[in-house]
Amino acid sequence: MLAGKRILLVIAGGIAAYKVLELIRRLKERGAGVVPILTPAAEEFVTPLTVGALAGEPVHRDLFDLTRESDIGHIRLSRDADLLVVAPATADLIARMASGFANDLATTALLATDKPVLIAPAMNPRMWDHPATRRNMARLVEDGVMVVGPGVGEMAERGEAGTGRMAEPMEILAAIEAAFSGEPALIGGPKPLSGRRMIITSGPTHEPIDPVRYLANRSSGRQGHAIAAAAARAGAEVTLVSGPVTIPDPAGVSVVPVESAADMLAAVEAALPADIAVMAAAVADWRVASASEKKLKKQASGAPPMLELVENPDILASIGRHHTLRPRLVVGFAAETNDLIENARSKLERKGADLIVANDVSPETGVMGGGDNTVRLVSAAGVEDWPKLSKDEVANRLVARIAELLPAPDGEGA
Ligand code: CTP
Repeated sequence: MLAGKRILLVIAGGIAAYKVLELIRRLKERGAGVVPILTPAAEEFVTPLTVGALAGEPVHRDLFDLTRESDIGHIRLSRDADLLVVAPATADLIARMASGFANDLATTALLATDKPVLIAPAMNPRMWDHPATRRNMARLVEDGVMVVGPGVGEMAERGEAGTGRMAEPMEILAAIEAAFSGEPALIGGPKPLSGRRMIITSGPTHEPIDPVRYLANRSSGRQGHAIAAAAARAGAEVTLVSGPVTIPDPAGVSVVPVESAADMLAAVEAALPADIAVMAAAVADWRVASASEKKLKKQASGAPPMLELVENPDILASIGRHHTLRPRLVVGFAAETNDLIENARSKLERKGADLIVANDVSPETGVMGGGDNTVRLVSAAGVEDWPKLSKDEVANRLVARIAELLPAPDGEGA
């Protein structure tokens, strides 16, 4: 979702500035371009050299740097970005933004932009609670500025606690993803899944043949990981049990890496109880009955090894039919190359799921490993066709649908 996006990152002078180094690393890992602006006060906390090296871009510091003024200019600097992020946003910078100041490079870029702005406030709790800061924050929110954090916690000053601590880098990352996913309301507004626990499986499983070889499939984990990220943005507390994948961990999610179907089942059971389960992993149906402890060698006779396969446990079915800890909403996938709806209906029934996300994975669709997905939602209520969407959009819609379908827990609601 962040690949190819350009983020103008304004770093102001606060102790939390060091945490922004981690944010830059995470953004780069996801393929985003990061153009840093450092305020003079920020340079007291992090060096332009470190920031520039991590971002892989020159650091902008001075409004009156004439070469850059003629070459790029502060207006272009902010217009070329897809999103402006201010982290940490200090009380002083927030005040100057709210009043429309343009007395340094950071405020000038923020005033000159026509792009969305996200701020991560960080300050002493008393400064955060001060009527002046509250007034400034209300103005910025009214101006359409998005806000992530601050959180509650111990401050750098000894013995001080309260609200004012900058959001963690992964939370800021989740907010940046939310800003790009067209659901910025989720950043500060009500979160439909807050307080809900969700277990998600994703990726392939690797079934060992011997210590160096395994059986696997083409799943990239992109759909399951996108659902985990969307669920976290919607406020859910997510445990993502993932088979071996090469994509980065989603922001704001606790990841349990596993290899085989047996490991995946154990990890899912250990993560119970949960309100919601979404089983998006492409679990291998079979494993080698007795994997060799030593590497198999070629035989002089030329005879290939005979691999006896046995069926793996069905993770979705064990959760969907769990006697004591069945989540209130269980969602499965059905990857099919033929008879999509018929097969999805039978999986819904057989595995005790409430909803099956059915998709055609014939090679010509490019779904396996690709960026898009065309899905059909199959439930007892019927079949719903969704248009071809990116896997991120499928994830957002699915999470919104899950929030609608989730029955109230016992004792809550009507
Ligand atoms: N699934 C699972 N554990 C398995 C096999 C599948 O949890 N051992 C889950 C998948 O995560 C998915 C759903 O079951 O949510 C359907 O997976 P799919 O591969 O389409 O179905 P299978 O049960 O493997 O049936 P078949 O391969 O015969 O179509």
